[in-house]
Amino acid sequence: MDRTVARILKVNHAGEYGAIRIYRAQIGVAALRCPDLRPFLIETLGHEQSHLGRFAVLMPARGARPCGALWLWGAGGTALGLVTGLLGRRAVLICTEAVERTVNRHLEDQLIFLGERDPELSTAIAEIQAQELGHLEHAVSGRGAKRAEERALDALVAAVVEVLIWLSTQGDSARMARELRRSPAHDASCKSAPV
Ligand SMILES: [Fe+2]
Ligand SMILES: [Fe+2]
Repeated sequence: MDRTVARILKVNHAGEYGAIRIYRAQIGVAALRCPDLRPFLIETLGHEQSHLGRFAVLMPARGARPCGALWLWGAGGTALGLVTGLLGRRAVLICTEAVERTVNRHLEDQLIFLGERDPELSTAIAEIQAQELGHLEHAVSGRGAKRAEERALDALVAAVVEVLIWLSTQGDSARMARELRRSPAHDASCKSAPV
């Protein structure tokens, strides 16, 4: 349990670090390719920076240390941000959608796993998740129907994020998801979750 809580914090902190790099890179090129998205990207970057700070504050008391592969999250985030930013508006929104959808699923798993065990952490995750859902909704509503190549881009971005999460939690994220799928709490939560 304690080891898993520490890994939850470690990967969430690393994920926010990567998200900051994505949005920073996109803001850098958005001026050329999609200036209308800049206000959204700047606001979202501010959210991700505050998420990073919240997780960082919660880490020491739970024995969590920053991920040793933080550089990989940074490099991956910058690469995703630059490539999608250069591809233009739709690619930026599809990247946002894929990242935020993947993050949200993991935060949902974490909240169910934590239950009543750590109310302070659960509250922080739930508040952060609400903002991540806002990013997801903005991306989905702004992109329109996806073409085949855009579905491939979505799947690629989501796969990159999943691999980084798996590596950073040393498989805990997958174990947690498997356990949760088998637990009654997850069934109840799935039934009550909005579609
Ligand atoms: Fe975030
Ligand atoms: Fe986000």
